[in-house]
Amino acid sequence: MTAPATNGAPLLLPSYKDQPQEVRDRFRRIYQRQVVLNVEGLSKSFPTGNAMVEVLSNVSFQVRRREFICVLGASGCGKSTLIRMIAGLEQPTSGVVDLDGKPVTGPGPDRGMVFQSYTLFPWLTVKRNVMFGLLEKGVPWAQAETQAKDWVQMVGLTKFLDAYPHQLSGGMKQRVVTVLSTLLNPKLLIADEPTSALDVSSQRIVTELLREMLAKKLVGGIIFVTHDLPVLRRVADRVAIMYAGQIHETGPTEEIINRARHPYTGALIGSVLVPEPQIRTRRISGIKGSPPDLADPPPGCRFHPRCSLAMDVCTTEQPPIVGDERHYATCWWAKDHPGEPVEAKL
Ligand SMILES: Nc1ncnc2c1ncn2[C@@H]1O[C@H](COP(=O)(O)OP(=O)(O)O)[C@@H](O)[C@H]1O
Ligand code: SF4
Ligand SMILES: [Mg+2]
Repeated sequence: MTAPATNGAPLLLPSYKDQPQEVRDRFRRIYQRQVVLNVEGLSKSFPTGNAMVEVLSNVSFQVRRREFICVLGASGCGKSTLIRMIAGLEQPTSGVVDLDGKPVTGPGPDRGMVFQSYTLFPWLTVKRNVMFGLLEKGVPWAQAETQAKDWVQMVGLTKFLDAYPHQLSGGMKQRVVTVLSTLLNPKLLIADEPTSALDVSSQRIVTELLREMLAKKLVGGIIFVTHDLPVLRRVADRVAIMYAGQIHETGPTEEIINRARHPYTGALIGSVLVPEPQIRTRRISGIKGSPPDLADPPPGCRFHPRCSLAMDVCTTEQPPIVGDERHYATCWWAKDHPGEPVEAKL
């Protein structure tokens, strides 16, 4: 397939509304469902030297029941801080985190967690590791054993029921950890870069396993934090793009990839993904400069010193939110170019 010449004109890419019926239907269903996670105006400051540094600023988003959302951003942009507050491991400086309408005030069994390091007991077999959490919750031994066998079978590791963690590969361990994190049917599964240390095929197995658990209604929703989009491209419903402690754009995954509205998203996606044939004309270049010092962030739009589309207003005024709950970007350029994908301009 030959890539179309653009001659500076906006690329004519399919909009979300033109996507296949099944994709449109899926989003219509998601947006009819209840909100499981509501994050509103969330900020977090840490003491550094004599000053407080705000590493997360006014973050708001929602996750609906059985939605798989991916939070994407470069290292240091505040992803783990956000996730730790949703997990209840850290208290916000301001703002709220509500799970099923109730404020999160600390860790709880209503949230399952998967992190990069594997949290298995090395002295227990796979079966006993899985049984451990169930026995702790008062499930009788025989029932815990049956349930553990069922779940381990579901992730294709029956042969390893009596193996110890050191006998498993990294990917296998992460599959067991994923099972563990969903045993109590959490309302929300929180995953902080759980696949970063895995090879590509193990990454795919773990992310598809998560998708399957969502489809089987074993978890209420998934929030998956990563700096690596390709592995999630096929499984995430929606992507939220973080930069310097803020969410700058959120939208359906394929729409973020093919019709980003924010210059940072466009540049980030261009640098991490091999474009589809129809968008091969997109310029792929690194983003000049580096993220700001959060102790002294730039005024106006935090991305303005690095943005090739920056205007005067961007250097002084907070950008507006442009779009709707399903897909929005905080950007002056997006406001002046309704509906236009930014890739065409980068
Ligand atoms: N406990 C802490 N005390 C001080 N600074 C912190 C603390 N935790 C995180 N930070 C800072 O907050 C910023 C965001 O960190 P983090 O949330 O870990 O980012 P990410 O997960 O996106 O890499 C970084 O500048 C980091 O140094
Ligand atoms: S608000 Fe301005 S500087 Fe910020 S991303 Fe948009 S165009 Fe660039
Ligand atoms: Mg992190």
